[in-house]
Amino acid sequence: MKVYKAHIIYTKQRERFEVLENGYIAVDEGRVQGIAAQREDLGCPNAEVVDFGNKLLIPAMNDMHVHAPQFHNQGIAMDLELLPWLENYTFPEETKFSNIDYAERIYRRFVYQLWKMGTMRAVTFATIHTESTRRLMELFKQAGMGAYVGKVAMNRNCPEALQEPVEEAVSGMLSLIEAYNNPQDLVRPIITPRFIPSCTPELLRACADIAQRYNLPVQSHLSENLGEIELVRQLEPDSDGYGDAYMRYGLFGQTPTIMAHCVWSDEKERLLMKEQGVLVAHCPTSNLNVASGMAPIRTYLNDGINVGLGSDVSGGHDISIFRMMVYAIQISKMHYQRNHALPFLSLSEAFWMATKAGGTFFGKVGSFEKGYDFDALVIDDNTLHPDEYTTLQRLERFIYIGDDRQIAHRFCQGKEIVLDSKQWE
Ligand code: GUN
Ligand code: FE
Repeated sequence: MKVYKAHIIYTKQRERFEVLENGYIAVDEGRVQGIAAQREDLGCPNAEVVDFGNKLLIPAMNDMHVHAPQFHNQGIAMDLELLPWLENYTFPEETKFSNIDYAERIYRRFVYQLWKMGTMRAVTFATIHTESTRRLMELFKQAGMGAYVGKVAMNRNCPEALQEPVEEAVSGMLSLIEAYNNPQDLVRPIITPRFIPSCTPELLRACADIAQRYNLPVQSHLSENLGEIELVRQLEPDSDGYGDAYMRYGLFGQTPTIMAHCVWSDEKERLLMKEQGVLVAHCPTSNLNVASGMAPIRTYLNDGINVGLGSDVSGGHDISIFRMMVYAIQISKMHYQRNHALPFLSLSEAFWMATKAGGTFFGKVGSFEKGYDFDALVIDDNTLHPDEYTTLQRLERFIYIGDDRQIAHRFCQGKEIVLDSKQWE
């Protein structure tokens, strides 16, 4: 048992922050055992106290949608919309991951950057390449961070080098499942049909079959871009929309499901997402960069749909989930300008999406309530004049203008995670 003392901030519900100045949190076996304003109220009088002084203690970030093999393309190739962007920049980069040494080099940097920015759990796409994907899983394991890693399933509308025959796709998935399907582990497989345009019906059915057989979660892309939606309409003429097409294949909440983007989901699609418990990964910078639009997140929240945040590197150019909070709020203000019936997101709502809302996908993650995994960041904002601000203003300033230099410690499931840049970058 360990007790940490700091100014503790987290969200139990999206409407407001919980703030404990000079508060205490007890951690044992990776989990929060109690949280209290006074040391005596925690119990465990003999436990060692680690005092973080004037620093802030907050839950770590969860990135609910990110493409590890696109990390080398971060910050370039922003001149095309989604479909030509995939064809001209993204698919050619992903073909390089047939080379395990290249994969190792890029994936190492990628894991390090997540760590650096305070993201302790990520839901990632890899590529079709089984051995490179295994390497990414090993790197997360080596780091001690949490991840769902998806070997990508795709077999049409892309370069031949990225089209994997269904049988090989299935055997690749099964070999990773065999090695990693332990619900206790921090690193786990997730079934990852890229999106409907990339997968034949046979491949989509195979993905659903494996997800259900092994009770594994599913991730994909949904209603991101109008060109993509039109293509899906042509490919799935019998379905009642994009979400319904996934539903018919068994890939829409039959097991826990994340759909990235959902910029253009209509009322019918949103109702299906709500009924099926589909989690939306909102990726604000990606939506802006590949000119897809702006997901109406207030509408989703009003509908009772769970929403987490994703960086979507490299459609998104920024891997910091703190920055995603800012962009999510700013985009919601654009919606508000057009329609005052959609109040823009508050800071606590954005923080809740980045921590507790996304965290539900990993179990009890993203809060400091009793029983939650202790995934935490210690923020040292001494360079940002903390004495001139309230505790909540300090957090707000860190989110808006801070960066990794203020992240003093990072914990995942109770363990402090320290990565050496010489080994990882
Ligand atoms: N839809 C299918 N693949 C992708 C991808 O790699 N990035 C984004 N943003 N959308 C996609
Ligand atoms: Fe994506």
